[in-house]
Amino acid sequence: MAEFTAPPMRVLCEDFGAARTYTEMVNAEGLCRGSEKTLFLLETFPEERHVWAHLYGADPARLAEAARRAEALGRFEGIDLNAGCPVPRITAQGAGAALLKDLPRLGKILEAMVKAVSLPVTLKTRLGPHPQAPTWRETLRVAREAGVAAVTFHARYTSQGHAGGTHLDTLAEIVAEAGELPICGNGSVVDRPSAEAMAATGVRALLIARAALENPGVFAFAKPDPCALAERHLALELRYRRLAERFSRLTAEEATVLTFRKHLFRYFKGLPGANTLRGRLMDLHTVADLHAAITAFRG
Ligand SMILES: Cc1cc2nc3c(=O)[nH]c(=O)nc-3n(C[C@H](O)[C@H](O)[C@H](O)COP(=O)(O)O)c2cc1C
Repeated sequence: MAEFTAPPMRVLCEDFGAARTYTEMVNAEGLCRGSEKTLFLLETFPEERHVWAHLYGADPARLAEAARRAEALGRFEGIDLNAGCPVPRITAQGAGAALLKDLPRLGKILEAMVKAVSLPVTLKTRLGPHPQAPTWRETLRVAREAGVAAVTFHARYTSQGHAGGTHLDTLAEIVAEAGELPICGNGSVVDRPSAEAMAATGVRALLIARAALENPGVFAFAKPDPCALAERHLALELRYRRLAERFSRLTAEEATVLTFRKHLFRYFKGLPGANTLRGRLMDLHTVADLHAAITAFRG
């Protein structure tokens, strides 16, 4: 998840049993240009075991080169292409969900990436641009022809954004048609019942996004103590931001405070005082302020 799945978040998810994690969405162009900021998005912690590089772009040659560069870092289990992001800044470049409106291009991109690297290449996509235009059959075909290792379907159409129901019936149809090609499912898995409902479609694996931001324990259906979780995340965040100090105009502490404001209130969502904290986030200026805000929730 863009702006969220940096090493600290991924370490927490792996700790709770996530079998695989993904980097934030990384711009292939930036990577090819050698941008230090883009490269930093591919930073990992040594204790991470199962990270995949998640790339976006619209040009086959640039994505092939980006995949090669990601592979050369020697940190990743595989390379994943985004063909599902509905954000206008991304689709305006012909990337993300825009690729579902140009499936021949998607095919060329995947083919170029598969040829460029020896790591497995996967695709993360949606059912189609909108319910009147399902493209999953054609997407399956181009993915299979390109030789991808698996396809993840967010079981929604681009027009739905991240809301509205997931289409588990369609996901089951996709699994049946995909044959040997492994299909993974994504969309609104938040607990055991929703995980079981999606697993019943026959998908090989489930990908969880938003629920893990509130509770990385979701991978184990666990409810860890939110204060302990927030403190652990904070320590990891400081460590991560120290790595960025060499090229950032912010100190590690400043960067940690800015980033952590957006993580903190999620851990305490639904608890007494959570709304007050949300309203006060801009008053948190130092790591000591963050510790104090966390401590206020200790019962
Ligand atoms: C803040 C945010 C950032 C996201 N960034 C990405 C991304 O970079 N790449 C991607 O494939 N999906 C991204 N997504 C979509 C999620 O991966 C996922 O497909 C979607 O949220 C549905 O799954 P969920 O119900 O488990 O959250 C993002 C979602 C959110 C809310």
